[in-house]
Amino acid sequence: MANMMPQAADNGRMPLIAPPLIEARGVVKRYGSLTAVDGLDFAVMPRDFQGFLGPNGAGKTTLMKMIYCLAEPTEGTLRVFGIEVREDPRRIKARLGVVPQENNLDPDLSVWDNLMIYCRYFGLRGPAVERRARELLDFMELWERRDTIIMHLSGGMKRRLVIARALLNEPEVVVLDEPTTGLDPQVRHLIWDRLLELRDQGLTFLLTTHYMEEAENLCDSLNIMDHGHIIAAGRPLDLVRKHVGEFVLEMVADPELEARITREHPDFSRQRSGQRLYLYAPTSEALAPLVSVYGSRESRLRPTSVEDVFLKLTGREIRE
Ligand SMILES: Nc1ncnc2c1ncn2[C@@H]1O[C@H](COP(=O)(O)OP(=O)(O)O)[C@@H](O)[C@H]1O
Ligand SMILES: [Mg+2]
Repeated sequence: MANMMPQAADNGRMPLIAPPLIEARGVVKRYGSLTAVDGLDFAVMPRDFQGFLGPNGAGKTTLMKMIYCLAEPTEGTLRVFGIEVREDPRRIKARLGVVPQENNLDPDLSVWDNLMIYCRYFGLRGPAVERRARELLDFMELWERRDTIIMHLSGGMKRRLVIARALLNEPEVVVLDEPTTGLDPQVRHLIWDRLLELRDQGLTFLLTTHYMEEAENLCDSLNIMDHGHIIAAGRPLDLVRKHVGEFVLEMVADPELEARITREHPDFSRQRSGQRLYLYAPTSEALAPLVSVYGSRESRLRPTSVEDVFLKLTGREIRE
């Protein structure tokens, strides 16, 4: 039988398997005695849209900052475009687009001047760059606002401007650290549409978010982080199947009822949160009999989502 696997070419030309755009091995970041990122391994391939989910303090921003060369790893190797981040940050930054968690626009300048200052940072000048800035403002529906001073923009406009700015240098990879946190649903959907359009044009994305819907809409693969570790990684549906099963029965159950259910149905994977009990299973048929026996008005049998995986792995209790 013919070998269907792609083979690396051995004729000295380009290999058929593209090398990863980002490759992390054992990456650690410490701030004094605090370990913010604790030994990460992952790879980002061309055209990936990878998401990083995690409770506050999980280390997402620290990881993004190391990738865009604002923070140096304490240990491990981190290569972006094949370049070790400590070796040549400037060459990496020239090919990256960055949307930091906090908008870092100059509040006293106009929309247009903010873009032009950024261009100068990359040594980009001239009519071609101005044309691109105009196209990007159009693309993010901000052209009408080009003369507005940043202070007078809404939160959604500032975020769209930071995204437009990240695209000025025609990056190959764009890092988005919570691009839509705190925005209204209309703006969020506009941003999603634009990001998907860019993905279809061949761009590669890294995204952090607290919105599971955002992760499911945009990302083809997810990394769930907690305490500086990646605790689960994979395609959204694979994560759901592996960690919770495709259905959940959510019910109010006291410890006695839980003990009884556990005795009678030891095979279901379970989680408790306050008064609520979550029973996970691969099919709704498996859970249906439990509804009739133990169900009450508060019971709900529903398909699971990435949110259930996230809460199962990182806990349903509040983190502060
Ligand atoms: N510059 C810094 N100095 C000291 N501690 C930091 C610094 N940046 C982040 N941390 C700490 O590192 C941990 C991870 O933070 P961060 O990467 O911002 O997490 P996330 O983005 O997932 O919320 C947190 O405990 C945070 O307080
Ligand atoms: Mg963060």
